[in-house]
Amino acid sequence: MKILLIGSGGREHCIAKKLKENKRVKKIFCVPGNGGTALEDKCENINFLVSDIEGLLNFAKENNIDLTIVGPEDPLINGISDRFTEEGLKIFGPKRFGAMLEGSKCFSKDFMKKYGVKTAKYENFTEYDKALEYLKEQEFPIVIKADGLALGKGVYICENLEQGEEALKDIMVNDIFKGAGSSIVIEEFLDGVEASILSVTDGKTIKPFISAKDHKQVFDGGKGPNTGGMGVLAPNPYVTEDVLKEFKETIMNKTLLGIQEEGFDFKGVIFFGIMITKKGTYLLEYNVRFGDPETQSVLPLMENDFLELLESTLDGSLSDFNLSWKNGYVCNVVLASKGYPGVYEKGYEITINSNVKDKVIIAGATLKDDVLVTSGGRVLSLLGYGLDRYEAIKNAYDILDKVNFSGKYCRLDIGK
Ligand code: AMP
Ligand code: GLY
Repeated sequence: MKILLIGSGGREHCIAKKLKENKRVKKIFCVPGNGGTALEDKCENINFLVSDIEGLLNFAKENNIDLTIVGPEDPLINGISDRFTEEGLKIFGPKRFGAMLEGSKCFSKDFMKKYGVKTAKYENFTEYDKALEYLKEQEFPIVIKADGLALGKGVYICENLEQGEEALKDIMVNDIFKGAGSSIVIEEFLDGVEASILSVTDGKTIKPFISAKDHKQVFDGGKGPNTGGMGVLAPNPYVTEDVLKEFKETIMNKTLLGIQEEGFDFKGVIFFGIMITKKGTYLLEYNVRFGDPETQSVLPLMENDFLELLESTLDGSLSDFNLSWKNGYVCNVVLASKGYPGVYEKGYEITINSNVKDKVIIAGATLKDDVLVTSGGRVLSLLGYGLDRYEAIKNAYDILDKVNFSGKYCRLDIGK
């Protein structure tokens, strides 16, 4: 089989590693890939723009690609799956309509309400004056969200009216997210602990993966600005049997029903971002792709063949597929460039001790003249496995001094 894998993060390096375990996989073209996929056998990086859907389509046809897997959300929201299926090509990931569950927060909140998915109370607005009027009558803290994609920066937790007014001005008047804020959601603040639950659906059946705990803020103790994720522990210790049962009943199954009723023709990942509170478990958001860095912790615990899982999702036989998971935990500590998520320097040489190479996932790094150099904010993931979580955490942090680059930074409390 020849596979086209779209994306360039740690998530895609991890997916490529898992895919190539299957003997039928002969070649994985990674678009554009990274320094990790450049070094894997069976993988070849291809220098295409992820946004060039027609170019990718032609590449897939010319190279007889058997299956395309989409890592990031943008191509899905821009309709890559619609175009590939129209042309008779197999692609893993939802079509444009279903991808709006991630692409538009107003759309996804209305979807949740329509199908009775448990979520924070909210109102959508398209006019600044009306939003302000509503805001003045609310209790604080309150949450304001730009409707569209905003590189993870479109959510404001506002402690008082002044902060709320500032957020509204940023998003709706100053248009700092360039169109993504022409509509907004104002929603109730939920106090609790977050969990990520990835799942796959073929539109008829939905199968949840083991849970994960992402650590979004850049500094220890959950301080500082939000990032794409500074580390993950999987499974998430807060996701107990009771939480899981409630999640399935009040969030997951209702979501599947909605997907069917709306006719999304959804074949891909639904990633639930949930908040576990004293009042119960709520859905914060949907993503329609694998999480990064959640994938790097969850996939190593999957006992199934990954390619077979994707194939079963695409041919609609997911109900017969038994997902199974290894006992134990994986802790994933992200090594970032100092300064991330703000300004940071790139181009530093990375050294990885050869006896830990198989425990390191490459993210923001490229291969330059056969040398691995930093090229992004989140550079590497260090993976530790253990039968209990303390062992997993220790094993991940034990890798820290065996990997080096100038300005390496990580949180020291991942999983704790
Ligand atoms: P989202 O993109 O909707 O997941 O929001 C990004 C982050 O903002 C989440 O991971 C939460 O930490 C926080 N957040 C979003 N919505 C709420 C809410 N209703 N209450 C509290 N925190 C929230
Ligand atoms: N780690 C969160 C995400 O992938 O959106």
